[in-house]
Amino acid sequence: MPPGVRPTTDRVRESLFNSLGQFFDGGDVLDLYSGTGALGIEALSRGFERAVFIEKDARAVAAIRENLRKTKLADRAEVLRMDAERGLEVLDGRSQQFNLIFLDPPYRIAPAQVASMFCMFSRLRSRLVPDGRVVYESGDTPPEDSRGVSRRYGRTVVTVFERDELTLNIAVCPGSFDPVTEGHLDIIRRAASLFDHVVVAVGGNPRKHPKLPAAERGRLIEKVTEDLDNVSVEVMRGLLVDFAREQGAKAVIKGLRAVSDFESEFEQAQLNHTLYPELETVFIMAEAKHSFLSSSAVREIALFGGEVRGLVPEGILETVREIYSREDGKIQKLDDKG
Ligand code: PNS
Repeated sequence: MPPGVRPTTDRVRESLFNSLGQFFDGGDVLDLYSGTGALGIEALSRGFERAVFIEKDARAVAAIRENLRKTKLADRAEVLRMDAERGLEVLDGRSQQFNLIFLDPPYRIAPAQVASMFCMFSRLRSRLVPDGRVVYESGDTPPEDSRGVSRRYGRTVVTVFERDELTLNIAVCPGSFDPVTEGHLDIIRRAASLFDHVVVAVGGNPRKHPKLPAAERGRLIEKVTEDLDNVSVEVMRGLLVDFAREQGAKAVIKGLRAVSDFESEFEQAQLNHTLYPELETVFIMAEAKHSFLSSSAVREIALFGGEVRGLVPEGILETVREIYSREDGKIQKLDDKG
């Protein structure tokens, strides 16, 4: 078995196809992250007409070809040796649609990859016939989403999505977060309850000189959003509209505190709308108790040794006190004490 390839056991395969049986009588199958191609080959042997396998590992590809040869199914199969992203681009140039898509990434999807995974789900939608299904094998935990029907087979969880379940509403919540405050966290939480997935984008306003590098600000946000399954954190370079497009986001979420925020937010929303009309800016009103809370106020209070408890999330209190009380702008890499 090539390294990084997780086998789909015979028992999982058997039960999976039995449960899928009712949906299909032929058609095309796409086996993405094919591994040794067991699922696609099983589909071919059960009456599917054609299969496309996408796998980047050379040894796995050799195994798929060998298995196809042995089962005499090679003339109904196409094997693309490339990563999934590139494979989808190749398929974008064709009209071929699939009745069944297997998605079995050989690794556990890390929180930072969840958004791109969801983005892939949305892309797969256009590759699927109207009553087609995407079958997602996710190791031992179901995807962090309420859609699809998940079944556990021993240590493997398999989720079957219908076509209409593949459109996910993703929002980007951008900011400098220098540092993240209780006010930011409240907005992120409320956004996470409205959207399927929220990507917190740690950006740089070129006019500001943040005290911490973006990656470190992002780590603090990851720490305080640990309990939110549908939130991931990314560093954003370049324009917000480009980042939102890459993430497959439909909306930008901004918190609005007082009237004083309005002018600059209105200007940014208008400019972003001009650059990317499909992207909506959605404002969430800050809670009254956060009306006067800002990162700049936190920085100033911390610098002069004032109390920041209640202004920043408890989990990063010590780090904020330590880092933001320093006069110099040179920050060492954070340790893990939070
Ligand atoms: O917390 P902030 O400082 O108000 O966040 C500002 C941020 C990062 C959201 C804004 O500067 C931004 O969107 N930066 C990305 C660059 C960009 O797209 N600029 C054009 C905005 S009209």
